[in-house]
Amino acid sequence: MSTDDVKKMQVVVLISGSGSNLQALIDGAASGELPISIAAVISNRPDVFGLTRASQAGIPTLVLDHKSFASREAFDAELMRQIDAYNPGLVVLAGFMRILTPEFTQHYLGRMLNIHPSLLPKFQGLNTHQRALDAGEKHHGVTVHFVTAELDGGPAAIQAAVPVLPTDDASLLAKRVQRQEHVIYPLAVKWFAEGKLRMVDSKAELNGELLPASGYRIEANEP
Ligand code: GAR
Repeated sequence: MSTDDVKKMQVVVLISGSGSNLQALIDGAASGELPISIAAVISNRPDVFGLTRASQAGIPTLVLDHKSFASREAFDAELMRQIDAYNPGLVVLAGFMRILTPEFTQHYLGRMLNIHPSLLPKFQGLNTHQRALDAGEKHHGVTVHFVTAELDGGPAAIQAAVPVLPTDDASLLAKRVQRQEHVIYPLAVKWFAEGKLRMVDSKAELNGELLPASGYRIEANEP
């Protein structure tokens, strides 16, 4: 940790894959836009590209392979121990594809964010882009929310909606949604680190005002 890092919020990022959202946070921290220092990146899968991104940015990495633990509880307990060693102000789930135990979510309640590729509460779970297409949705998008014990169910901080186009398939739609992910996740993290975004009584607040159930909403009209 450098002397510059002392006044910045320490953040631990959890990943399972490519880490494009992690990259958006690394870039935001490097440019000074985000008042955070990414203390560590932890992956539950070895050899994912997100680990390379972290190493290239000089961020300590750790692989905790969930397959080498006897139970979900044992994995989460060790993950908690490793995260807490960095004493982070915020834990960021950036494509971390694990169901979390209630002990874990309770421990980080109000200081853990997740990004989910749908306009929650629609399409919790997996394959969100295909499911939005199959349902004939006119709009789809992405939500950043506080993590609670309910899977993809915590209070929303911010949502970005994109139009669904007649020419879309799941992969085109995913790409359009991901561009918005890289806008709204850094924004939510910035707000949190600045003390503007908080979870109070199971609700999300921005600048002391209760946010609507969708969170702060951005309509991205670009195709
Ligand atoms: C992102 O699209 C994120 O929304 C999704 O995983 C992807 C990770 O991409 N998260 C979930 O589906 C969580 N339920 P990335 O590794 O390139 O950031």
